[in-house]
Amino acid sequence: MKVLVIHGPNLNLLGTREPEVYGSVTLAEIDERLQERAQELGIQIETFHSNHEGEIVDKIAEAGSIADAIIINPAAYTHTSVAIRDSILAVALPTVEVHLSNTQAREEFRHTSLIAPVVTGQIAGFGADSYLLALEAVALLLKLK
Ligand code: DQA
Repeated sequence: MKVLVIHGPNLNLLGTREPEVYGSVTLAEIDERLQERAQELGIQIETFHSNHEGEIVDKIAEAGSIADAIIINPAAYTHTSVAIRDSILAVALPTVEVHLSNTQAREEFRHTSLIAPVVTGQIAGFGADSYLLALEAVALLLKLK
C-alpha cells in the first residue's frame, strides 16, 4: 500500500514559523516520524512539499495512478483553492485533510475549508501529531489494522 503525503505552502518553515501556533517540530522531523510509523504499519509513503498550487494539483493527479490514499495539509490553500479541491475529487482516493492547528479556534477566514467537503475526514489541532493520527486513519481506511 502506498500513501502520498502532501504539504502545502509555508510548511517548509515549520520549526521557526509561529512556533506558538505550529510548534517547534520541523517538516523533516514530521516526515521522519511518518516514515517510521508507516514502516511499522507496512505502508510505503512518499512525502512532497510545495509552495505552489499548480504543483500540488499535478502531484494529486499523479497520486491517482501511484497511490492508495492521500494525506494532505493544504495549508493556506485550504481556504482558497478550488483547483486542489477539484483534483482531490478527480482522483477519488481515500483522503485525510490535516492541520497542525485547530483552524476552527483561529481567525474566521480559517473556519472555511474548501477541501473538507471532498475528503474522507479531517484531523486538526494536534500539532505534528495530527500527521501521525492521519496515518492511523489511513491504515484503518485501507484495512491494515
Ligand atoms: C494550517 C492552517 C492554515 O490555516 C494555515 O494557512 C497553514 C497551516 C495548519 O496546519 O494548521 O499554513 O494548515
